[in-house]
Amino acid sequence: MPTAPFAIQALTDASRPADLVRTIQDRHVELEQALLRHGVLRFRGFALRTPQDVEDVVLALDPNLASGEYLGTSPRNALTKHVHSASELPGYYPIPLHCEMSFLAHPPTRLYFSCLQPSSWGGETPLCDFRLVWRDLNPDVRSRLQTRGIRIVRNYAGPKTPRSLDPFALKRWDDLFGTTDRDAIAATCAREALTAEWLDDDALRLTCTPPVVRSHPETGEPVYFSHLQVFEVHTPEAELRRVSRLRQTLHARLWYLAGRAVTTWTRRTKAPHRRAMDVTHADGSQIALSDVEHVRDVIWQHQVVAPWQLGDFVVIDNRSTAHGRLPYSGPRQVVIAWR
Ligand SMILES: [Fe+2]
Repeated sequence: MPTAPFAIQALTDASRPADLVRTIQDRHVELEQALLRHGVLRFRGFALRTPQDVEDVVLALDPNLASGEYLGTSPRNALTKHVHSASELPGYYPIPLHCEMSFLAHPPTRLYFSCLQPSSWGGETPLCDFRLVWRDLNPDVRSRLQTRGIRIVRNYAGPKTPRSLDPFALKRWDDLFGTTDRDAIAATCAREALTAEWLDDDALRLTCTPPVVRSHPETGEPVYFSHLQVFEVHTPEAELRRVSRLRQTLHARLWYLAGRAVTTWTRRTKAPHRRAMDVTHADGSQIALSDVEHVRDVIWQHQVVAPWQLGDFVVIDNRSTAHGRLPYSGPRQVVIAWR
């Protein structure tokens, strides 16, 4: 059975952000143990309404929070020093479950999400215990992924290139790194085990070969820890097909057909090393699609679909537990900070 978040409800309707901080501080030992075991804590009923409310809470809990360097692939806007929009990707697109920035040598350890405006339809954040995913993968698939490894390639246009209107294009590399200083970028890449290749057309190709399984630093438990199911070329079709089965609506079925068309177009028109994102085995050979689909199936079996309520505050142990986003319509504001 999937593990549900460890949930805490505010005691009164008038609970303020300061009450949330006090609740977490008063129950610190119990909550740290629950976070290790469950992977997710959810606090509900506290009046978090603005990005600054969230920043105040997060800094009270975590004064040494990093300044928020973000090397992931979602378009994100900084709202305060530490709090960002969770993703600016269009609402129709599902974000597959993943541990944040799993492809870095030093990924975040803890995520803080908060919902400042729930969407009128959809927009839930699915959660998934990736310890269970590793446990339940077919041993042959596990063995292939471990012994043959994976290689992730991401292609970024540069500041001399006009901004793309393609919703699937990655941001530009100067936006990703927040600088045009190539020495500074080289230092960041070296720290995070990314190989940077500067291309003739002002583009940057980032390549990495991260492990697919990591041991949880505190418990030693093996955790499936990969963006394989995010970067593989069939992802739009594969995720929207599963969303269509979950929703059982004509609308979702039409988006699945659109995802299938996008997948076919990408496969036919772009060589793998030219795609925004691509993933292969470490030697460049194709990963069997059946293996990728099996990974997706196990993840979907274990996901817990968690609807948002206004003011929800969710803490995730990024070393064990993945998050995603289901499609939505209407306004929605979910924000994130991390360390
Ligand atoms: Fe994420």
